[in-house]
Amino acid sequence: MPNGKITGIGFYVPDNVVTNDDLAKIIDTSDEWIRERSGIEQRRYFVKGVDTVSSMAGHASKMALERANLDAQEIDCIILATITPNYTLPGSAVLLQRELGLCGKSVPSFDIRQSCSGFIYGLAMANDFIRSGSYKNIMVVGSEIQSTFLEMTDEHRNTAVLFADGSGAVVVQANEEDDMGILSTHLHSDGTYAENLMVEYPRSHNRKEDMSNGVMGLNMDGRLVFKHALQKFPAVINEALEANGNSISDLDMLIPHQANLRIAQAVQRILEIPDEKVHNNIMKYGNTTAASIPIALNEAWELGKVKEGDLICLAAFGSGFTWGSCLMKWAY
Ligand code: COA
Repeated sequence: MPNGKITGIGFYVPDNVVTNDDLAKIIDTSDEWIRERSGIEQRRYFVKGVDTVSSMAGHASKMALERANLDAQEIDCIILATITPNYTLPGSAVLLQRELGLCGKSVPSFDIRQSCSGFIYGLAMANDFIRSGSYKNIMVVGSEIQSTFLEMTDEHRNTAVLFADGSGAVVVQANEEDDMGILSTHLHSDGTYAENLMVEYPRSHNRKEDMSNGVMGLNMDGRLVFKHALQKFPAVINEALEANGNSISDLDMLIPHQANLRIAQAVQRILEIPDEKVHNNIMKYGNTTAASIPIALNEAWELGKVKEGDLICLAAFGSGFTWGSCLMKWAY
């Protein structure tokens, strides 16, 4: 059975640029603190009346389709990773299907909610669908509008400065060449610390009360998340390499989920990966959760840092906790 490969990649970020200084006018923080602790310099927030999770996903998907030289009508499955769907119900993948003019085709489209690991989970599912022969041309997207659940108060300043909005998409198709495309994917979860990084409201078991409350209840134990990220990122990167008989020195590019530049740098140090083999862009976009890996991969590819035949590792860790990796030989 052929494995999957990425044949088109695209991204979209809203026009609204929000700098650290902009945030410092609203909450008790500073450009210096944010840069030092997270690396973030600016981020994008959606434009009301212009951007939705599905419209942003639509823009990113159309760019990916064009680059894959594929007509939208040929897409036979849509996987949308998001923790911030347009509506509670239905999921946003059907809205993306509508954006792509695919409603008449009744292809399957579904949301997945694996937060920062969502894109890797989606890619893994797409690869397995391709390998099993179920679908041939799969759109995998990460899209988030998180600025609406951020609480812009001093009490929540640790999260207010981190999260942001954006979208990234890839087309996954069957790879006919041996040893190219997606080599393996590795998915994990552990619910022990579910409440240590969560958006609590609305809760299905107390919805009425939650709705009058008016807040989303974003809670993050930053230090605990940091500590676990430093264990899980290296482990899941090594897992992918070992599964394919590779070592760190074989790696051409690591694209880590853009959670915090300090996490990415620490992982890089632990694994002894040189600077030119890691791509980070959290400085420009903040943490866009499910969208961060495809946005960063897109940028690395546009910059010529991801080339035919390169060994690329995508790795994520986030709420749940969930974590995962994907090792691929780039064959665009
Ligand atoms: N601006 C200024 N000060 C801030 C601040 C902000 N935005 N956020 C927190 N602080 C303050 C705290 O109030 C605290 O002050 P105190 O010492 O007077 O009590 C101090 O900074 C240290 O707070 P702490 O939360 O311990 O900071 P930290 O060094 O752990 O850094 C994070 C905070 C959020 C940057 C860091 O924990 C982190 O990035 N963790 C991982 C989070 C993550 O990646 N989440 C997404 C996972 S997908």
